[in-house]
Amino acid sequence: MLIRRLCPSSCGKVWLLVLLLLGCGLAREGGSILNCPPKCVCASNIISCSKLGLGVIPTKLPRFTAILDLSHNNLTRLRADWTPTRLPHLHSLLLNHNALGFISTEAFCHVPHLRYLDLSSNSIKVLEELLFSQLQELEVLLLYNNQIAQMDRSAFDDMARLQKLYLSQNQISRFPMELVKDRAKLPDLALLDLSANKIKGLPVAALKGLPAWMKNGLYLHSNPLSCDCGLYELFTHWHARQLSSVVDFREELVCSLPLAKRSVSVFTLNSQDSLNCSEFKEHMLETYLGDTLTINCDTKVRGATTREWVTPNNRRFPEETANSTMTVLSNGSLQIRLVRVEDMGTYTCYTVSQAFNETLYVDVMVHNFTQHGPHDTLNTAYTTLVGCILSVILVLIYLYLTPCRCCCRGNEKLAAQPEDSINSSMLSTTPNHNPEAAGRKGSLSHLAASGPMQGQNGKQVDEDRGTGAGPSSEVMGLHTHGTMLLLGAASCCAALILLSPQ
Ligand SMILES: *[C@@H]1O[C@H](CO)[C@@H](O)[C@H](O)[C@H]1NC(C)=O
Ligand SMILES: *[C@@H]1O[C@H](CO)[C@@H](O)[C@H](O)[C@H]1NC(C)=O
Ligand SMILES: *[C@@H]1O[C@H](CO)[C@@H](O)[C@H](O)[C@H]1NC(C)=O
Ligand SMILES: *[C@@H]1O[C@H](CO)[C@@H](O)[C@H](O)[C@H]1NC(C)=O
Ligand SMILES: *[C@@H]1O[C@H](CO)[C@@H](O)[C@H](O)[C@H]1NC(C)=O
Ligand SMILES: *[C@@H]1O[C@H](CO)[C@@H](O)[C@H](O)[C@H]1NC(C)=O
Repeated sequence: MLIRRLCPSSCGKVWLLVLLLLGCGLAREGGSILNCPPKCVCASNIISCSKLGLGVIPTKLPRFTAILDLSHNNLTRLRADWTPTRLPHLHSLLLNHNALGFISTEAFCHVPHLRYLDLSSNSIKVLEELLFSQLQELEVLLLYNNQIAQMDRSAFDDMARLQKLYLSQNQISRFPMELVKDRAKLPDLALLDLSANKIKGLPVAALKGLPAWMKNGLYLHSNPLSCDCGLYELFTHWHARQLSSVVDFREELVCSLPLAKRSVSVFTLNSQDSLNCSEFKEHMLETYLGDTLTINCDTKVRGATTREWVTPNNRRFPEETANSTMTVLSNGSLQIRLVRVEDMGTYTCYTVSQAFNETLYVDVMVHNFTQHGPHDTLNTAYTTLVGCILSVILVLIYLYLTPCRCCCRGNEKLAAQPEDSINSSMLSTTPNHNPEAAGRKGSLSHLAASGPMQGQNGKQVDEDRGTGAGPSSEVMGLHTHGTMLLLGAASCCAALILLSPQ
């Protein structure tokens, strides 16, 4: 559990500032030139202190500063109190080309509205826990050309607006899956540059599942990746989709062969003298008769709107007459209910965005049978029937065999009673299961889900029998017998309900 890092209260400092302003500062307000730190160049709200060999940050920064340029200096530390006053209007802070090796975890408390932060070409080695979490409005963060080897998993937490994160030319050896996996954490991140680091392995399966607009901005070239066919498939697919991260750096996408110890282009791994990977084929969506299929329009540009879908037989969606099994969902995906063999073919999705218009093709394959053949259905029905019959037999055993035995074992009844109640509560779980299973049965696409449910019922019946031998030897009142009868009847009814759709 991580606790959001809190900035120390700045109340005292604000009061001090007010007093200062009242005491001596008012006269200064007129000339903004007086606000400019020595040697710096100031133009209204821009303060430029670049290339001055500064070892410390000037303290008297005007409150209205919007852009502060401290690049190409000799700064080594960014302390919590680098600006004693709050800079509420600062949106760009340039600290590139310094010697920064230390950044206080409270360094950004006084600049809450920062949108652009350049920390590139410094000597940062570690990104600590929640380091940037104060920067909830930050959109661009440049950290390239540092010596970052260690990144806490929470370093970028709570940066809800972060769009671009540059981490290239560092010493990172682990792919930071947390930055792309949990979309809720960095919902706007569309560019993550991890090129020229020390990453050897990639979570290929997880990367495949990312939306195309995220892959489009995921730069991974110039890493010492180890070759395998998963890598080949991943990048060939990205290249086929014309994603910038791969198209623009095709030559730098290399990997090292495990035995030969030499680097080869990822795109040559299909050749016989390297790994002989099988040729890449565009993935085809497969479905079965009667299923519901959702085709996503996986566009390269984030937030592009789906304008139109065209089906294999040239029908356009969304269309005016809404009498169809196909609908375009609010997120742009095309949904086909009760898939038929005629729905097989290539679907085309047209999208529009500010940057460019995109056309996507999705091949759909429909198998000429349902996902669960008649054999499966029969099996399920058979199991249910056996379960039903067993329940009835058990009820009969309880009703007609119990009284005799309890006469012989009257002494044990007291000790046994708590056990009885446990057993009967176990048995009473049976009716709870059945409505759920029956509910699932309603949807054709979830036939698979209901299979195991019935398996459980079958097991339950076995349990009934197993535990039944125990309690049946104890005293059970008429009331319990009635309950048992009801339970049996209930399971029988539920079983029949389950059976009926077939
Ligand atoms: C930068 O700082 C280091 C030590 O802090 C000092 O040795 C060096 O001379 C400084 N360089 C400049 C250009 O001031
Ligand atoms: C490469 O794979 C193909 C098909 O999988 C096979 O026929 C061929 O012999 C393989 N070549 C080498 C050199 O392993
Ligand atoms: C609407 O769908 C029904 C059933 O699929 C069909 O019989 C009917 O002709 C359709 N109407 C139009 C206008 O397409
Ligand atoms: C769109 O919504 C459908 C249903 O809610 C969902 O299955 C699909 O994955 C969504 N598509 C995208 C791209 O989020
Ligand atoms: C995208 O398509 C629309 C309509 O077809 C057109 O008006 C627009 O200019 C196109 N935009 C680009 C960037 O090509
Ligand atoms: C689907 O398969 C059945 C036999 O299993 C066949 O009679 C029918 O013509 C097939 N339908 C299509 C559209 O291929």
